[in-house]
Amino acid sequence: MPERSIFNFSAGPATLPEEVLRETQEALWDLNGTGIGVMEHSHRGGAFDAVYEQTLADCRTVAGIPDDYEVLLLQGGASSQFFMLPANYLPADRTADYLVTGAWSEKAVKEAAFYGTAHEAWRGQKPYTLVPTQSDIQYSEAPVYVHMTSNNTIFGTQWNAEPEIPADAWLVSDASSDIFSRPIDVTRYGMVYAGAQKNLGPSGVTLVIMRRDLLEGGPVRELPTMQRYDRKSGTMHNTPPTFGIYVMGRVFAWILRNGGLEAMGERNREKASVVYDALEANAGFYRCTAGEGSRSAMNVTFRGPDEETEKRFIAEAEAIGLAGLKGHRDVGGMRASIYNAFPREGCDALADFLADFAKRNG
Ligand SMILES: Cc1ncc(COP(=O)(O)O)c(C=O)c1O
Repeated sequence: MPERSIFNFSAGPATLPEEVLRETQEALWDLNGTGIGVMEHSHRGGAFDAVYEQTLADCRTVAGIPDDYEVLLLQGGASSQFFMLPANYLPADRTADYLVTGAWSEKAVKEAAFYGTAHEAWRGQKPYTLVPTQSDIQYSEAPVYVHMTSNNTIFGTQWNAEPEIPADAWLVSDASSDIFSRPIDVTRYGMVYAGAQKNLGPSGVTLVIMRRDLLEGGPVRELPTMQRYDRKSGTMHNTPPTFGIYVMGRVFAWILRNGGLEAMGERNREKASVVYDALEANAGFYRCTAGEGSRSAMNVTFRGPDEETEKRFIAEAEAIGLAGLKGHRDVGGMRASIYNAFPREGCDALADFLADFAKRNG
């Protein structure tokens, strides 16, 4: 593969580690010397089984996942967890609490209302510039679970710590856009889920980490098999997304080779600081859309002086190899997505461009 001259700031699917892509390129043709490519192996055969078992083992090592938690690698994306979670665990006569901090939690809470009572324990307003403080949150009397979105991909806000929740409830996090970007204490959660396509691999595979007692407790209502988390054989009930699982496994190995989640967290903090510092240094020209204290280390969202100038910013950036900076339509302006695999040099290049563009246009 030739060298790349582009830094890809896409919000997802997103930049993957170069080493992983090179390993994958090899495995497409020949998985681990078997003479058969990774996409061509039976999911019931020994070669894929070895990949699968190692992927699960490395996932557990990366996040320090204890034995009383199950790891499932499903299809259907994070969006399918929006309905599977309440379908499995929210009885019709009970309440689940939702912390609505952005567009994805809006979608999640809407799905919960199909099955039981969905209480908004906190709801921000577009453009969702903050996540709540503990004293802002108003829980219902006895929620089954509390659902949060740990990083709000569109609005560029992120929780710095888990909220405290009512004693008998369990916490669920949609961690699609910051999973494994920093250390995580899985034992704070009943369930953590994430679509792979930002920090873990290609789209098409969804990581679900779930407390075993919840899984084994089974669903609170009759459900078709594929809507149940406790379906027989878990991930392997039907043909799993074998290619996605392979790549995810290579990403876990890459995280472990590169110092684990402590090192990821440190590197991600540094990368984000480079970009936020450049924005602050030109604060008369750019404006961060997320409030201080809630700013995401994964998605940096910002506006320019006016829409015309923003369009030129995006076009000029693209022309020098800084791709994918257009913000989501709900926020406008620009968004730099800088997940685990996004290189530090790309943040430095963006910081230089931010300064240069402001100087020429300010
Ligand atoms: C925080 C968050 N949750 C959920 C989703 C939806 O994920 P999927 O496309 O895997 O359903 C996204 C996608 O960008 C996201 O950022």
